[in-house]
Amino acid sequence: MDTIKEIQHRARAAIEACQDLQRLDELRVGYLGKKGEITAQLKALASLDPEQRKAFGAAVNVARDDLALAIADRKTVLQAAALEALLLSQKVDVSLPGRGEQRGGLHPVTRAMQRAVDIFSRLGFDVATGPEVEQDYYNFAALNFPEHHPARAMHDTFYFGDGRLLRTHTSPVQIRVMEQQDPPYRVIAPGKVYRSDSDQTHTPMFHQIEGLLVGEGVSMADLKGLLHTFVNAFFERSLAMRFRPSYFPFTEPSAEVDIGWEKGGGAEPGWLEILGCGMVHPNVLRACNVDPERYSGYAFGMGVERIAMLRYGVTDLRHFYENDLQFLRQFH
Ligand code: PHE
Repeated sequence: MDTIKEIQHRARAAIEACQDLQRLDELRVGYLGKKGEITAQLKALASLDPEQRKAFGAAVNVARDDLALAIADRKTVLQAAALEALLLSQKVDVSLPGRGEQRGGLHPVTRAMQRAVDIFSRLGFDVATGPEVEQDYYNFAALNFPEHHPARAMHDTFYFGDGRLLRTHTSPVQIRVMEQQDPPYRVIAPGKVYRSDSDQTHTPMFHQIEGLLVGEGVSMADLKGLLHTFVNAFFERSLAMRFRPSYFPFTEPSAEVDIGWEKGGGAEPGWLEILGCGMVHPNVLRACNVDPERYSGYAFGMGVERIAMLRYGVTDLRHFYENDLQFLRQFH
C-alpha cells in the first residue's frame, strides 16, 4: 500500500510540473501504459491472497483513476497554452496599412488605335476585320500585285512555306469586305501586320488602320477632305497636310500623306509622313466584281505606331515593345 501511495505521489508531482504535451504523454505511458508502474502493480495482485487483494486492488484502481484524471486536466491546460501561444505568434495587426492595388492601363498603341477608330466611327465608317495569317491572293494578287512584280519584294513578307503568309498590310481586308458585300463600302480595318524588318524605326509586327470608301462619284478631293478632318480631330489642332505623289499597285493615282509638325525646341517645323492612300485601282474593283464604270472609291493605310508616337511625344518606337512599366504607367 505504501508503494502505491509513493507512486501516486511521485506521478502527480511529475504531471503537475509537466510543461509540454509530449512529455505528458511519456508520463502517461510510464505510469498507466502496458508496461507502466501502475499496471505492474495491478499485475502483482495475482500473487496476493484474496483478503489483501481486495483492499490492494481498490487502492490501485483509485490511484489509476486519479492519475488518469490528473493527466487529462494537465493536457487541457497545456493544449490551451499551446493554442494561446500560436494565436499570439500569428496575430494580425488590423491597423497596418493594406498592400494597395496596382491599376492597369491601356497600351498607348491600343489607345491611339481606339481613338482613331472612334473618330472614323463618328464619320460613318464601320469596323471590318480579317485574318493575320493570309493567302497570297488577298495580300497581293487581288490587290493588283502581278506575280513577279518588284512591289512584292518591297514587303519583306514572312511566308509559311505552304502558300500562306503573315499579312504585310491591312489592305487584304479591302478585298474581303468587297467580296462579302455589295457596294457602297465605308469601312476601316484596324489590326496587326508583319514584315521581316527590324531596326530603330521598324518592328517585325506593327499596327495599321486601313480605310476603304467606295460609292458613286467618289473623288480624290473627298479623300483629302476626310483625311484632313481626321488628322485635325486626332491631334486636336489645326495641322497643315499635303499629298505627295507615290505608287501602290492597288491605287491609282496614289499618294503619301505628310502633316506639318512643330518639332519644338526652336527646330524648323517639318513634314512627317503618316499614311499611304489613293483611288482604288479599277483592277482591284474588278477582282471583287465591282463595276469600275459605275463605282469609284478611295483607300488609305495608316501606321498606328507613328501617330501614337506623335500624339504622345514618344521619341523611340522601341519603347512600345519593351514592357517597361515606368514607360507604360505614363499613359494610364
Ligand atoms: N497598304 C499600304 C502600305 O502598307 C498602304 C495603303 C493602303 C496605300 C491603302 C494605299 C491605299 O504601305
